[in-house]
Amino acid sequence: MAEERSTNDHKALVLDEVRKYHLDQQNTDGFVPGVTEIWPSGAVLEAEDRVALVEAALDLRIAAGPSSRKFESAFARRLRRRKAHLTNSGSSANLLALSAYTSHLFEHRRLRPGDEVITVAAGFPTTVNPIVQNGLVPVFVDVELSTYNTTADRVAEAVGPKTRAIMIAHALGNPFEAAEIAEIAREHDLFFIEDNCDGVGSTYRGQLTGTFGDVTTVSFYPAHHLTMGEGGCVLTSDLKLARIVESLRDWGRDCWCEPGKNNTCLRRFQYRMGTLPEGYDHKYIFSHVGYNLKATDLQAALGLTQPDKLDRFIEARKRNWRQLREGLDGVPHLLLPEPTPGSEPSWFGFVITVDADAPFSRAELVHHLEERKIGTRRLFAGNLTRHPAYLGRPHRVVGDLANSDVVTENTFWVGVYPGLTEPMLDYVIATIRTFAEERR
Ligand SMILES: Cc1ncc(COP(=O)(O)O)c(C=O)c1O
Repeated sequence: MAEERSTNDHKALVLDEVRKYHLDQQNTDGFVPGVTEIWPSGAVLEAEDRVALVEAALDLRIAAGPSSRKFESAFARRLRRRKAHLTNSGSSANLLALSAYTSHLFEHRRLRPGDEVITVAAGFPTTVNPIVQNGLVPVFVDVELSTYNTTADRVAEAVGPKTRAIMIAHALGNPFEAAEIAEIAREHDLFFIEDNCDGVGSTYRGQLTGTFGDVTTVSFYPAHHLTMGEGGCVLTSDLKLARIVESLRDWGRDCWCEPGKNNTCLRRFQYRMGTLPEGYDHKYIFSHVGYNLKATDLQAALGLTQPDKLDRFIEARKRNWRQLREGLDGVPHLLLPEPTPGSEPSWFGFVITVDADAPFSRAELVHHLEERKIGTRRLFAGNLTRHPAYLGRPHRVVGDLANSDVVTENTFWVGVYPGLTEPMLDYVIATIRTFAEERR
């Protein structure tokens, strides 16, 4: 007992020092326009985040374990899905979400090579990559400028005889027409995968994004609404799907025991599967050709400090976006972003498209901003079909990708993440406005 107390005392001392160290690390220089970096995105980490990470390290919780499970339950509750599975990235979550539908457990409905999946040409590559990685065929539709999402009409037009699924991301947190697209999926018996990596907390028609699809994904990379450094999550209310996701994530195993546990099913040595001998240890029976895409408890410990801050972070993102939107209203030659009608986005970034006939180019404006320490980003890949990785791969395009090309040429975004302050955003507004007005 005495020994235990002394161990806890040591830990408390270390964690106290960590809190002090955190304070030492705070930048007290204040914002200097043109000198202080205004990042487009970044993690906002507080003393308790640092403490949680160090505590997990002190406890040597280095693999997936109790914090991962605890996070999964809390996050599933928060996002109103029955199950959440933590992964090492949002990209891995996307890979698992789509690959799960190739499982034999979906019998005649399972996705097979050559089946088509409707997706969007302008976005992040790993929304599309799982389609290609599973030998499926992406069917690309265009986006609307100003919402940067596709529409239900475009998706409906793309459905063909080989179409079996829809996999689309909410563009920079702006919800796509998820209710209408879910309806199209129902009508045509398509699987619907909702990439919500950028949109945690957004709503469409009053309903949280990530609750329209059969399955949804989240990223915890530092640019995102919540962070674990690296990390992601697959969420679903379909228990069969959840079981397949878990199997694929955990090497393809059939067993669902927690790490360090045995015989949860009480039949560990009673299975007969494949052509294995009867009673082969269930822990080592593999029913899927799986991966290992688990996250560690160090990541989950950081994740556990975050959901409490989510409302505050979402509010700050909305406030920052509004400040930019109001401040930039009427600036010549710029197309400003619009929320999808019926939505309330939890924004990831503030997207701007420079008019094709503007007396300045996107590159000139971006260069001007970057020189003044205002960070900018591309709307990810722009038109993915133009990248070397996708040239010559089987795909179908429905309509044209004219707006995706505009995104590739003329679009960029600046940050709205909670680490940005009002004076920083005033500086961003003034810099853009002066640049555009001086060149009109
Ligand atoms: C829409 C979308 N999907 C997936 C991802 C991939 O997430 P991760 O970086 O965690 O792999 C991103 C990354 O930003 C994203 O924006």
